[in-house]
Amino acid sequence: MLCLAAVVTCSVRAEDQSANRFDTDRFFHLQIEPILEKRCFECHSHQHKTKGGLALDSKPGWEMGGESGAAVKPGDLKNSPLVQAIRHLDEDTAMPPDEKLPAVEIALLETWVMLGAPDPRASPGKAK
Ligand code: HEC
Repeated sequence: MLCLAAVVTCSVRAEDQSANRFDTDRFFHLQIEPILEKRCFECHSHQHKTKGGLALDSKPGWEMGGESGAAVKPGDLKNSPLVQAIRHLDEDTAMPPDEKLPAVEIALLETWVMLGAPDPRASPGKAK
């Protein structure tokens, strides 16, 4: 009984400390940035190429967007070209062009957009 009480007290304390705060920068760096780097940078970064005029290696990059304007409209899946592209709805705009992303990566990117697309990268190649 004593033992259980200790465990409960402990876990409540741990919860207190984190105060249930969701760290959006951390979410971006851990979950979103690796997908962009692995799946998109080859064609959409200053390190490599900016196809369609689009760079995804900074927040201003996707805000300015490419030939068709902002790639992401924070909180708006329907009007975010990036989301429409990764859903592979239309052969001409499907991204990446060759292979559809795994469902979990599409879901993460959609979650990111729904959260308001938090992105701490002020400019390309800046320290994380
Ligand atoms: C192999 C190269 C390649 C990869 C990888 C790639 N793209 Fe593209 N992307 C292109 C090309 C080429 C265009 C411009 C012509 C077109 O729309 O097909 C483009 C255009 C776009 C556009 C529209 C830009 C505009 O304003 O017209 C979006 C949004 C986009 N890509 C998102 C992505 C995302 C997100 C990823 C990663 C998940 C990705 N792309 C991966 C080649 C690529």
